[in-house]
Amino acid sequence: MIRKATDPPPGTFEPVASSLRNTALVHIFANAGSADLGLIRNIHRHLYQTNPSYRDAAERAVGLLGRAPAPPTPIADTAPPFHAEPAIEPPTAPPPGGITPVHGLPELNRIFDEAARIDDPIAQIGMLSTYYADVDTDLPSDPFSPAYRQAVVALYERLTDHQGYQPAKSEVSPGLRAGVGVGQPSPFGVSDSAWVGEGWMAWGFIMQQLRLKPGQKVIEYGAGFGAMAVALARNGCDVTVVDIEPAYLDWIQHQARQVGVTMRTHQGSFGDVPEGSGPFDAVVFLESFHHSLDHADLLIKLRDMTTPNAVVCLGDEPVFEPDDYWARTVPFPWGPRLDLVSVRAGRTMGWLELGFQESYLREAMLRAGWLVKKHVFPLSRRGTCWIGRKMGTAFQITDTDLPDLPGSTWFGGGADGRWTGATAEMPLPISLGYTEVEIDITNHNTLPIPATVTVADTHDTQTIAPAQTVTFRLPLSPTAARLRISTPGFTPNDTLKNGDTRTLGVYVGGLRFAA
Ligand SMILES: C[S@@+](CC[C@H](N)C(=O)[O-])C[C@H]1O[C@@H](n2cnc3c(N)ncnc32)[C@H](O)[C@@H]1O
Repeated sequence: MIRKATDPPPGTFEPVASSLRNTALVHIFANAGSADLGLIRNIHRHLYQTNPSYRDAAERAVGLLGRAPAPPTPIADTAPPFHAEPAIEPPTAPPPGGITPVHGLPELNRIFDEAARIDDPIAQIGMLSTYYADVDTDLPSDPFSPAYRQAVVALYERLTDHQGYQPAKSEVSPGLRAGVGVGQPSPFGVSDSAWVGEGWMAWGFIMQQLRLKPGQKVIEYGAGFGAMAVALARNGCDVTVVDIEPAYLDWIQHQARQVGVTMRTHQGSFGDVPEGSGPFDAVVFLESFHHSLDHADLLIKLRDMTTPNAVVCLGDEPVFEPDDYWARTVPFPWGPRLDLVSVRAGRTMGWLELGFQESYLREAMLRAGWLVKKHVFPLSRRGTCWIGRKMGTAFQITDTDLPDLPGSTWFGGGADGRWTGATAEMPLPISLGYTEVEIDITNHNTLPIPATVTVADTHDTQTIAPAQTVTFRLPLSPTAARLRISTPGFTPNDTLKNGDTRTLGVYVGGLRFAA
């Protein structure tokens, strides 16, 4: 065969071609100026360290380009090895065979032993979630009292066999450092793609509700492997993460480097604000708020570290309505969840796995000065979130959900107000130090109606003419936690014959507070 003088000699074509390709890569990488620069640089470092022909081409390209590509520092694969912990939440659907109460420690231990013999962690969780600990849960009546908190700690100790609860000791995840493998931060590696897909849809829904713009400041507490935090940083948000477990923070930094974003990470506890990081436009908890023993105080603290229009988001938290299947595992306003998945997590890891009743959570948020709305993700409980908006000195009653309090009835209404029943109560932002409240009340009945508004020991009674709106004004005190509206009540059907047989009171619109 006659060869042209320019052809490469036999056997040398591939190396020359790959060297040319590498030179081209070096060009691209060294000139990269896009948002993906961090990722590209990491690839460059990796190739530089592992591929001699790339290194050779890179060094020649330095001369060619007249400027050096990014200095090859050690590759950023410094994330700690891990093994994925199975999800500790009970499954979102009730177990088909029902949920069985377990009485006493011997029976509890027998079931845990039986579960330990099941190899597949997901099947284990499935089995444990068919039981709950039927223990004596006689907690004090005021869920906001120090005595209640103390009783919750005592119940935690009884259920978990751990002495005392200290987040810095009780909430760490030593298993994170013991396993092997990289590249599968939760939810990857936990189960099948159905679980991962459901998680992404759920997080997508939560991100949609948050409506955050590039440049806005977000802090995520208890971010774990940080899927949401990293996504928000990629969205251009200025993200700070605080977690009690340092291994998670290493993982998050690792991912941030991989995708070329920067984030602040800080080892600490809920409510900590790393220097220079705030004030925040959003505070995010995903499946982490339920580890906060002092959550009522925490909600108050979050106001101080946020901007005036800030939101706080509690996503995928165990908050149950009374008719929820899982409500039987939280037979109190708040406290350690009694399903055996949570009890086991407490016993083996020491984690505080709290659950909340919806009414309690709504009241806690309103007391702390957050208008609260539940955003239901119809496809999975994992996306349902509670979004609190920082309360100003004036708002409409429709800006917030209200708790179902005993003896109190609220109905729906229009865009500007809600109907009361004969008696309706709402929590007050007791933590904000206001001294006076004004509330606008309209009578939509065809007859005059006397209405009484009561706050603590003070009340104001006025008769409201049909179609008239009256403002009631009452003083507030630091112990005045609720406002009550009482009227004789009327049934529209009696006079209007319109089929509406509810007992209605008055129509409530705006509220204003003065310091
Ligand atoms: C169930 S994991 C949720 C992780 C992640 N947000 C997710 O949804 O996958 C709970 C997280 O809260 C963190 N955590 C628990 N108690 C904490 C505390 N007192 N302060 C800060 N982080 C805490 C844990 O280390 C963990 O990262």
